[in-house]
Amino acid sequence: MRILVINGPNLNMLGIREPDIYGKATYDDLVEHVKQAAERLRVSVDFYQSNHEGDLVDRIQQAYGVYDGIVINPAAYTHTSVALLDAVKSVGIPTVEVHISDVREREDFRQVSYIRLGCIGTVMGKGFDGYVEALEMLIRTAGGKAETCGEACESPAPCEEKCESPAPCEEADR
Ligand code: DQA
Repeated sequence: MRILVINGPNLNMLGIREPDIYGKATYDDLVEHVKQAAERLRVSVDFYQSNHEGDLVDRIQQAYGVYDGIVINPAAYTHTSVALLDAVKSVGIPTVEVHISDVREREDFRQVSYIRLGCIGTVMGKGFDGYVEALEMLIRTAGGKAETCGEACESPAPCEEKCESPAPCEEADR
């Protein structure tokens, strides 16, 4: 299973920007965190970050026919961009919206999310772990657990620990 992780404007400034809200870890730390989780979950991940709305639209369009899922933190474009909503709807790839902070607890203008209308789920306020939760959501939606571990396995993530036989998990190519 191939998943594209997209981050919008100013997320390249993680570690520097408003550390009281977003923490002290950097964008590279975020990539590393998600890569390690993806390895454990046996999915392949690619990353893209841009500060430009049109570039984000281009990247979503290029994902068509290539990726099975998208994890996107559109950052400020969450609250303004119909173009990003239209892009995820255009490609029809299951997409999960992620926010590091809990936007529900923040300013009124952050209460609107256009992209949410095109997403299968939203994770917010869980820091970098929200991206991992989004991966798990995509795997579940794709039927990952049934494909790899059989009916008995409840969760795609720790399937090695839960399955009676580790064989199907080891062979799995999500
Ligand atoms: C954010 C929340 C947005 O409101 C904000 O504009 C961001 C980051 C988050 O990850 O919490 O840039 O998406």
